Amino acid sequence: MTVRPTPERIPPGIANALDYERLAPQALPAGHFAYIAGGSGEDLTARANRAAFGHWAILPRVLRDVRAGHTRLTLNHASLPHPFLLAPVAHGLLAHPQAELASARAAQAAGACLVASTLSSCTLEDIAAAAGPERWFQLYLQPEPAHTLDLLARAEAAGYQAIVLTVDASLQMASRSALAAGFVLPRECVAANLMRYPQADPTPLAEGESRIFQGAMRHAPTWESLHWLLEHTRLPVWVKGVLHPEDAQRLRQAGAAGIVVSNHGGRGLDGSPASLALLPAVRAAVGPGYPVLFDGGVRSGADAFKALALGAQAVLLGRLQLYALAVAGALGVAHMLHLLSEELQATMALAGCAQLSDITPETLMPAPPC
Ligand code: FNR
Repeated sequence: MTVRPTPERIPPGIANALDYERLAPQALPAGHFAYIAGGSGEDLTARANRAAFGHWAILPRVLRDVRAGHTRLTLNHASLPHPFLLAPVAHGLLAHPQAELASARAAQAAGACLVASTLSSCTLEDIAAAAGPERWFQLYLQPEPAHTLDLLARAEAAGYQAIVLTVDASLQMASRSALAAGFVLPRECVAANLMRYPQADPTPLAEGESRIFQGAMRHAPTWESLHWLLEHTRLPVWVKGVLHPEDAQRLRQAGAAGIVVSNHGGRGLDGSPASLALLPAVRAAVGPGYPVLFDGGVRSGADAFKALALGAQAVLLGRLQLYALAVAGALGVAHMLHLLSEELQATMALAGCAQLSDITPETLMPAPPC
């Protein structure tokens, strides 16, 4: 395996969470970094995710007393100290030899909720043993329903508090940046959760059938499979990968516990809008009380503030988690979460917000051209 052993110390010169992105290329083989950093296709959506935060400015407010300020919230019936979750990311071994076990330990130390991926390098049982009480399991529906049911039973037995069904990545467009860097998934990067399930050979395509429609999309989740899932688990089901307001509305009606406004960090449909751009419309469609999480491009406390102002209750961290993991292991991820939390607190204090519910759309204005 080509991941360099990382020193378990915080490198000097880290002023903010975004510094982990700056240092990650030194900690990762070039191909691994390109695979993690890139989006699909030409990276249009991955870039749009980041650029969207620049379209908003935060309005400073003065003379407000924020001395009772805090960032606590209730999510999925649990009390959390801050609105940062670790997003599900596949193949943690690419970033660090301890992979998701290091992220789980960091989440526990920082009081953050960890969302473990179906495609993690460690099993969901091992991750649960390393994680704190707030852990959710991200589910990819398996071609064989019995395997999905087994994953659900394992997640319930291991104390996961929610299922996060990802619906936007049944098919990933080739990534120009990963290809250009010559990235190939190392042999040891296996999906540990799925090793026990014999994978049947894919049914050969009939004459005239499409490699996409009848091939890759054959087992993609549908509204029907969502209803099936809701009937087969006692855990709340969140749906991740929602951008369209009509989909969001229908998911609420269907009984999803909440949604994650996300475009998979720009790794799905290249050319789709930034997830931040759709967040206000999704919030308007589902109404004020419905749980909405957000991810895509969050790299700072100010970014999180903007997502909260535009309708999210909390944000998930994908790449930033992997960068911190690569740079300084569990310590790095815990440090990154601490920095983000303090950056959010500083932003709130200067914007006159003493609690998360004070972060309303009125705290922002469209960024004036520079
Ligand atoms: C992901 N993401 C992802 N999502 C998911 O539901 N299951 C998964 O297994 C993965 N795997 C994965 C691997 C890598 C390398 C990346 C970068 C992303 C998407 C992830 O959960 C999240 O939606 C995005 O990463 C959010 O964007 P940022 O924070 O990376 O900009």
